[in-house]
Amino acid sequence: MEHTKDKIKWGILSTGHISNKFAEALKILPDAELYAVASRSREKAEIFARRHGVRHAYGSYQALADDPEVEVIYIGTPHAFHLENAVMCMRAGKAVLCEKALTINAHEAEEMIRVAREENVFLMEAMIPPHVPLVKKILQWVHNGRIGELRMIRAARCIRRDFSPEARQLKLELGGGSLLDVGVYPISFASMIFEKPPEGVSGLGYIGQYGSDEQGAALLKYPNGAIADLVFALRTETVNDAYLYGTKGFIHIDEIFAVPERATLFDQNKQIVEVLEEPIIGNALNYEAEEVMRCLREGLKESPSMPLERSLEVMRIMDRIREPWKLRYPNDER
Ligand SMILES: NC(=O)c1ccc[n+]([C@@H]2O[C@H](COP(=O)([O-])OP(=O)(O)OC[C@H]3O[C@@H](n4cnc5c(N)ncnc54)[C@H](OP(=O)(O)O)[C@@H]3O)[C@@H](O)[C@H]2O)c1
Repeated sequence: MEHTKDKIKWGILSTGHISNKFAEALKILPDAELYAVASRSREKAEIFARRHGVRHAYGSYQALADDPEVEVIYIGTPHAFHLENAVMCMRAGKAVLCEKALTINAHEAEEMIRVAREENVFLMEAMIPPHVPLVKKILQWVHNGRIGELRMIRAARCIRRDFSPEARQLKLELGGGSLLDVGVYPISFASMIFEKPPEGVSGLGYIGQYGSDEQGAALLKYPNGAIADLVFALRTETVNDAYLYGTKGFIHIDEIFAVPERATLFDQNKQIVEVLEEPIIGNALNYEAEEVMRCLREGLKESPSMPLERSLEVMRIMDRIREPWKLRYPNDER
């Protein structure tokens, strides 16, 4: 599909928490049109459409994929359905922005990427950090050698909420658990910064009463000996900041490191060298939507800032982390 028109027509697949936030994000982008929404229930689609001023409401995901006017579809379902939903949309010739974690495991991610290439359509995992302006500046600090050679990353994404047993966050059948839900952020962040696969992966996780992991920690070792020390949790709140340590100094990224508004560069004597501050505009989902539209207009099939190879690598790392935990999802048995 050629993207020569002023506005790009978006479809939103599902009407849950993050889909509502994504609709809000699109509203502040002048070149985005909130064109259609689909739910498993027509009534929910209509309520969503009225709330957000969406032109078309569909009572099935397939009907959205089949609408010839829709150019790109945002998938906001639980991880267990990402592969099925994305493949359906891509087979209908749509570009896809799919929520994190991209899939349940690396095998599914390979399949999703294979279909994107076969259909020659755009695909990106909805991972916000690479598109946040301040994160891009932090990457420049690293690339410009401001902290010397990068030796270590420490990052946390830990929240505490009273999730019900039915909530997708802890429900095994929906892909629940802290590793896939929030661990994906520090792991993807480390993959973005190191730009290569780790050679060593290990981790410990606590499997709670619903059979999913409630918290965990991962250690990644890179070929030059650099280490990433990452924690993630759904029932423990921590300070969700990050440190990047190098041979000449270090960077502290304030909470929430994945959508930061402030970062500080220190020298090796722990003295402040420079502070960067930049407010997040909107709810930050707009940054990834902007990147998708830029790529579509340029005819790209994937984003250079969030390449598919990185999403696949992250799924491989998460498979390796949870393997010794004996944590299996129903999708793993397919
Ligand atoms: N980027 C971020 O900051 C961020 C934040 C939160 C979540 N997420 C990601 O977004 C995805 C959805 O999370 P969420 O918190 O929005 O979940 P949610 O509130 O539970 O919504 C998920 C939606 O998926 C649809 N769905 C289809 N099959 C389903 C099933 N069997 N059970 C439950 N829902 C089903 C439902 O929409 P219909 O009923 O309309 O079909 C439901 O409303 C997850 O992959 C999550 O990791 C990303």
